[in-house]
Amino acid sequence: MFLKSRSFTKDSNKNMLKEYYIDNLNAREAKEEIQKLSFYPMMFQAARVLKSTGILKEVYKKRRVGITSKQIVENLSLPYYGVNMLLETGLTIGVVYLKEDDVYTLTKMGYHLLFDEATEVNINFTHDVCYKAMFHLEESILEEKAAGLHEIGINDKTIYPHLSAMQEPMKKSWFDFDHYYSDRAFPEALKIVFKEDHKHMLDIGGNTGKWSIKCCEYNPTVNMTIVDLPKQWEKAKENIKQLGFEDRITGIVGDVLSKDLALPSDADAVWMSQFLDCFSEEQIGHILTNIYNNISDDAVVYIQDLFWDRQKDFAAAYSLHGTSLYFTAIANGNSKMYHSRDMINIIKAVGFEVIEDIDEVGEFHTILKCKKVSKG
Ligand SMILES: C[S@@+](CC[C@H](N)C(=O)[O-])C[C@H]1O[C@@H](n2cnc3c(N)ncnc32)[C@H](O)[C@@H]1O
Repeated sequence: MFLKSRSFTKDSNKNMLKEYYIDNLNAREAKEEIQKLSFYPMMFQAARVLKSTGILKEVYKKRRVGITSKQIVENLSLPYYGVNMLLETGLTIGVVYLKEDDVYTLTKMGYHLLFDEATEVNINFTHDVCYKAMFHLEESILEEKAAGLHEIGINDKTIYPHLSAMQEPMKKSWFDFDHYYSDRAFPEALKIVFKEDHKHMLDIGGNTGKWSIKCCEYNPTVNMTIVDLPKQWEKAKENIKQLGFEDRITGIVGDVLSKDLALPSDADAVWMSQFLDCFSEEQIGHILTNIYNNISDDAVVYIQDLFWDRQKDFAAAYSLHGTSLYFTAIANGNSKMYHSRDMINIIKAVGFEVIEDIDEVGEFHTILKCKKVSKG
């Protein structure tokens, strides 16, 4: 880790982790960390393959007494060269350690590589969606476009119209990644949102319909309108039909970036989860302005997003910065996981005020509840 994560603490003013303001490694640690970075992509693959081949699981099974490369070769019928090489490499990655010469057992890192769900979701997303495309990061930065998108077989400016038509295992890895985070926030978010008795809520970027369905299950009277691109709405419609919510959840197929996307004016709430981070600052301004112009003065807007400055530990902020790189090279070339200050500045510039600002919804999300600034 570049930054020592154990001592991370948030200060009381919701400012960023104090550790971002110091260079806290000594000279030897700094050199070691930067040298490790030179091999990150290869070590990532080694760790992934230690798991996917079952080698690490064999080490786990014999963790008390330890296991040799040769025993693993016999158990799994894998070539000796590869098993031995990967286990040796696993020593400096930190996922295995030696009980005695050539007798391996599992480290705590190895345990998390095997069993931690977030790690599994992040690794699959990195490997299946991002890995090849990241070769084009520099081009993406210089030309302000998602130059890696063609590496996953999509010849377009953004990934979004193609999400539901992606090949496996990429599709599963993308949706697992997206849902892993939002699913964890939804139970707490429902309690926050339904402190008010909303009658009609817009779910912009509603994706497969998960949030809208959850709202209908949670609140017996609310009606939902999902706004999303055609293929996503098709998928959402299937899910909604299966659960019998067709009379309460409707859809608007539309592009929020178009000039004149009309939104229902009778909505008393607008919900956007993990949505605005899919757009550039200028586009966020456009989307929020359109919402501002379409909704009544009393309606509220909930923005549920992940802000890297609001995370309580290093790993979460680091994952969000990794996600920003996905946006740059693959998703659309111009969005990212934002610093909350930048999002709040856009919200205010459009004419909204943040009336509630709630961190750690689920674990990682922030909900910004907004309203039009009163003109009176
Ligand atoms: C990252 S997903 C968020 C999904 C969901 N709200 C959640 O919390 O899990 C972003 C959603 O925005 C939709 N989207 C992206 N660009 C869009 C656009 N220009 N107009 C309408 N929807 C768009 C995508 O199709 C996708 O369903």
